[in-house]
This record gives sequence, structure tokens and C-alpha cells, in this order.
Amino acid sequence: MDRKLESKGRVCVTGASGFLASWLIKRLLLSGYHVTGTVRDPGNQKKLAHLWKLEGAKERLRLVKADLVEEGSFDDAILGCHGVFHSASPVLRPSSDPKKEILDPAIEGTLNVLRSCKNNPSLRRVVLTSSSSAVRVRDPDDFDSNIPLDESSWSSVELCEKLQIWYPLSKILAERAAWDFCKENGIDLVTVLPTFVIGPSLPPDLCSTASDILGLLKGETEKFNWHGRMGYVHLDDVALSHILVYEQQSAHGRYICSSTVLDNNELASLLSTRYPSLPIPERFEHLERPYYDLNTSKLKSLGFKFKTIQEMFDDCIASLVDQGHLSPF
Ligand SMILES: NC(=O)c1ccc[n+]([C@@H]2O[C@H](COP(=O)([O-])OP(=O)(O)OC[C@H]3O[C@@H](n4cnc5c(N)ncnc54)[C@H](OP(=O)(O)O)[C@@H]3O)[C@@H](O)[C@H]2O)c1
Repeated sequence: MDRKLESKGRVCVTGASGFLASWLIKRLLLSGYHVTGTVRDPGNQKKLAHLWKLEGAKERLRLVKADLVEEGSFDDAILGCHGVFHSASPVLRPSSDPKKEILDPAIEGTLNVLRSCKNNPSLRRVVLTSSSSAVRVRDPDDFDSNIPLDESSWSSVELCEKLQIWYPLSKILAERAAWDFCKENGIDLVTVLPTFVIGPSLPPDLCSTASDILGLLKGETEKFNWHGRMGYVHLDDVALSHILVYEQQSAHGRYICSSTVLDNNELASLLSTRYPSLPIPERFEHLERPYYDLNTSKLKSLGFKFKTIQEMFDDCIASLVDQGHLSPF
């Protein structure tokens, strides 16, 4: 065992090469876990190189092929693991077929992973990465905007269908399916619901949310205009909170994971003051979106402390410059 770390046992992380999962694996390896990561294409050296560079990876990381849409695909990866962090899920805007591109892999894929968990006698707990979009997409008449939304809030399926916003719909339905399956099958499940994740990307090819941020820093307005009001959280905090709710025996249910909720104009003004030489848009078009805030006291009650919006963007921008996505300024 490297660096005299005591092994904490083996855990599985699905979607290992992704933005969040890569950082989660970094944190798990640093704290002494053996990790089995699942990837769709284990032969793609370029996509996996950043994982093999992580401290402890050569000794304690194993990568296994698995696909959400292949029944039984996760059996081998999950067998013998004490914990399963299910992070893989499509984060994209579907081009033509939302059911095939995003809803089925998210919902049926989650059930597929959970069936493999059910067959694993070593399993202690599953931590599912859900999203604040499974909490905050509500009809304005349906909640009191003066009361911050907490874990008892569920986004409206009907509203997502009406607005044709498939990603939030996929996260609501996948999380619900997970709760139902785990209750029926006696699986210990905890879910983490991050807001928009900001931080240094380990994968050199940016995922869709990280490229939205790059766009914003280069002056694009379109995507952030649509965001309206949004919560933000540091990538490292999302990884650490996954590990905290896995390790803390008393953790249960859902955990909103968010540092700050801001209107996009507040975000733009904060960023343009902090990074005056970047062409950050000065103002966004005003959209009629309901005001909301998020209550994160449940995660904080486990002793968790969130990094600030400044820290998230400082770390994110430094890494974008480092990887050559953004010119030094
Ligand atoms: N980024 C955010 O702001 C944010 C906020 C809240 C929640 N989340 C959640 O965090 C998790 C990770 O997202 P991310 O931001 O890290 O995005 P990401 O980098 O795009 O990661 C998504 C991962 O899912 C995998 N995946 C997609 N379809 C798959 C399939 N059919 N079979 C197996 N794996 C599949 C992808 O694998 P490939 O690499 O092979 O494509 C990728 O590794 C997701 O559950 C997402 O909903 C993200």
C-alpha cells in the first residue's frame, strides 16, 4: 500500500472518465480507497490518460468496460465493492431522440446499475449523483419563493415535459426510480444533488457544462441567458460530499450540494469585477423566471463547509488557462 495509507476497501465509480467522476476518483484514491471505475471505451487511451496520472492510480485503480444501456454490464465492476458511486448519466442537449439519447440511459441505466448492486453481497451503500434540477424546476404558483427549497422538494415532471427540458426530466425520473428500487430491494441509498458544478477539469476535453463556462468567459451569452437563476458549487465540494455521505453512517435520504444561488446578472458582475480583462458579458436579457433559493442545512449539519464562488472560478479559470482552453490574461 502506497504512502502508508490504510485501505478503506473497494468502491465502484460509474462513468469514471467524466468531469465529476474523475475528480471523485482522485479524492477516493487520496483517502485510501481501491477504486473500480467503469468506462464505455477502455481502449481510448487519450480519454483515460488523466486517470492513470492520479496519485495511487497505478496501485489501486482498475478500469472496467460498462455501458448503461447494456443489461448486466455493471455486474463484474460492482461485484465485491462495498460502495457504489453512480455518476454516469448523459449530460447533453439531445439532438433528435430524447428518449434514446438521455431518458433511457439515465433511468433504465440507473436501474441496470442497481440490479448489479442487488446481486452484490458485499454492498454497504450506493451514492447516486442526482442534480438540483430534480428539486428546483417548479411552477411559480406551486411554492413560496420566500422559503428556500430543501430536499423535500421535487421538480415537476409535467413542467419539464411541457418545456421539453429533457436533462432535468431524466434526473427526476432516474432518482425516483432509484428510490423505488432501493426501497423494494433493501439497498441503502443516499443521493447528492449538486447545482452547476464549477472547477478544474481533469479530462482535457471539456464536458458540456465546463464548455458552457468557457463560453461565458469568452463572452457568449446564449446559454447563460437561458440559465437565469442558478446555484453553483465547487467540483471538489461535490466529490467530498459524495465521500462524506458514503462514510457517515447516519447520512440518509437526499442532500442538496450548493454553495451559492445567483441570478446570471449577479454572476456576470461578480466575474467581470474579479477578471476585468476577460470579455464577460455585462448583462443578460431579463427572463420571467421564479426566484428561489436552496436550503443546504442538511449537508452542513454533517459538518460540511462549501467553498466560495470566487474559489470555484479561480480554480476553474487557472485550469482552463493551464490546459490551453483560455489564453493567459
Ligand atoms: N456538471 C454539472 O454541473 C452537474 C450538476 C449536477 C449534477 N451533475 C451530474 O453529475 C454526473 C456527472 O456529470 P458530469 O458533469 O461529470 O458530465 P460528464 O463529464 O459528461 O460525465 C457523464 C458521464 O456519464 C457517462 N455516460 C453517459 N452515457 C453513458 C452510457 N450510456 N453508458 C455509460 N456511461 C455513460 C459518460 O461516459 P463517456 O465519457 O463514455 O461519454 C461520462 O463519463 C451526472 O450524473 C450529472 O447529471 C452534473
